[in-house]
Amino acid sequence: MAKSKSTYSCTECGGQTLKWQGQCPHCQAWNTLVEAMSEKAAARFTPVSESREVQSLSEVEAEEEQRYSTGLLEFDRVLGGGLVQGGVVLLGGDPGIGKSTLLLQALCNMSLLPLARNVLYVSGEESARQVAMRAKRMGVDAKALHLLAEIRLERIQEVLAERKPDVAVIDSIQTVYSDALQSAPGSVAQVRECAAQLTRLAKASGTGMILVGHVTKEGALAGPRVLEHMVDTVLYFEGDTHSSFRLIRAFKNRFGAVNELGVFAMTEKGLREVSNPSALFLSHHGGQVPGSCIMVTQEGTRPLLVEIQALVDEAHSPNARRLSVGLEQNRLAMLLAVLHRHAGIACFDQDVFVNAVGGVKITEPGADLAVLLAIVSSLKNRPLPEKTVVFGEVGLAGEVRPVQRGLERLREAAKLGFVQAIVPKANKPKATPPGIEIIAVERVEEAVARMR
Ligand code: TYD
Ligand code: MG
Repeated sequence: MAKSKSTYSCTECGGQTLKWQGQCPHCQAWNTLVEAMSEKAAARFTPVSESREVQSLSEVEAEEEQRYSTGLLEFDRVLGGGLVQGGVVLLGGDPGIGKSTLLLQALCNMSLLPLARNVLYVSGEESARQVAMRAKRMGVDAKALHLLAEIRLERIQEVLAERKPDVAVIDSIQTVYSDALQSAPGSVAQVRECAAQLTRLAKASGTGMILVGHVTKEGALAGPRVLEHMVDTVLYFEGDTHSSFRLIRAFKNRFGAVNELGVFAMTEKGLREVSNPSALFLSHHGGQVPGSCIMVTQEGTRPLLVEIQALVDEAHSPNARRLSVGLEQNRLAMLLAVLHRHAGIACFDQDVFVNAVGGVKITEPGADLAVLLAIVSSLKNRPLPEKTVVFGEVGLAGEVRPVQRGLERLREAAKLGFVQAIVPKANKPKATPPGIEIIAVERVEEAVARMR
């Protein structure tokens, strides 16, 4: 295509230039110019749906969307009950975590009876032979799966328009490129353009589409942020590659609840669903050890018990280290300040490491109290009482704030044989679940006093 078709637009101010430059001539920002398609390149502005008249909302047909089950209950749960017709899902995750494995399994399930959907797997990363070998190794029945090993967007569009599959997987969006742009596959302009074109096609044809996305070193989806706005659902596949457990989590979902969690185990025959995961993330060391505290976190509709570990050790450099794995680093610094100010326990000359066992990432503030007690336990070298769970958010004033769905968390802990729970006062239930004693605390000092 002729060179003049490309323009460059600034991601900061939106200004346009004809030539690439290091600095935007409009807003003077550096390294913000990315290639964009010029307005002459037509299809870009074709609308998603037919209607152009103003309508009253009540006239618009609002039928319940049709959903395609993936044949994997855990995957369906995260999607909010299955893949929506014409919906576009972006699935991100570290390399080797199992994205291709999961989607191959899901597509095979969908292509077979009783679902018998017309499915298409577009592989840009692996050759047809490699995908076939993987399916064989996993022992899945792939006879009804249609495969296309292609990275040219125009060809993929052709095949999609011709075959009109119910469900299509693009593995991955970073490998797809369009002839209309000159930048390399995986560049911001290519990823944005290809994803926009595919999204439009999915909406127009009713194909449910799953785009696989790479993640950057920092763990965010690679490519432009606008990708996440464009699609209907953003899922992350996460887990510790050293353990066999994998979690799939929704970050955005136009068709269901977010923060739902699907749990799988990676086996030599692909991914296996784990339908009762609540006790998965407890490290089963015998007896109680200092620096360990069990918390109950609520992910979507399911409570999960997770062990929080802390190690507090004398610092040997002037700058004491604060490191956290699976928990927020900034929150750790805040919690240490609260501990000092309100409970009189100083850690400024101590290195502090905290870890959520099993590779889970805990984003809810309900973990605060458990992190604090694990730190105090390690510092004092004294274990928490046996069979105790903890949850609660900690505020800057030293108050312990309630968390959502406290009763469900307590019920799950009681079911798993825990006998004591340190919880925010406002979460103390009127009727205590049988077998568990509730210790309600209002302030950090009270909780810490329980350790003495
Ligand atoms: P893959 O799906 O290729 O990851 P992604 O597409 O996210 O990059 O998963 C590859 C990993 O999964 C690889 O390290 C081997 C492992 N694996 C199994 O343990 N069992 C299996 O049956 C398969 C197919 C893969
Ligand atoms: Mg892959």
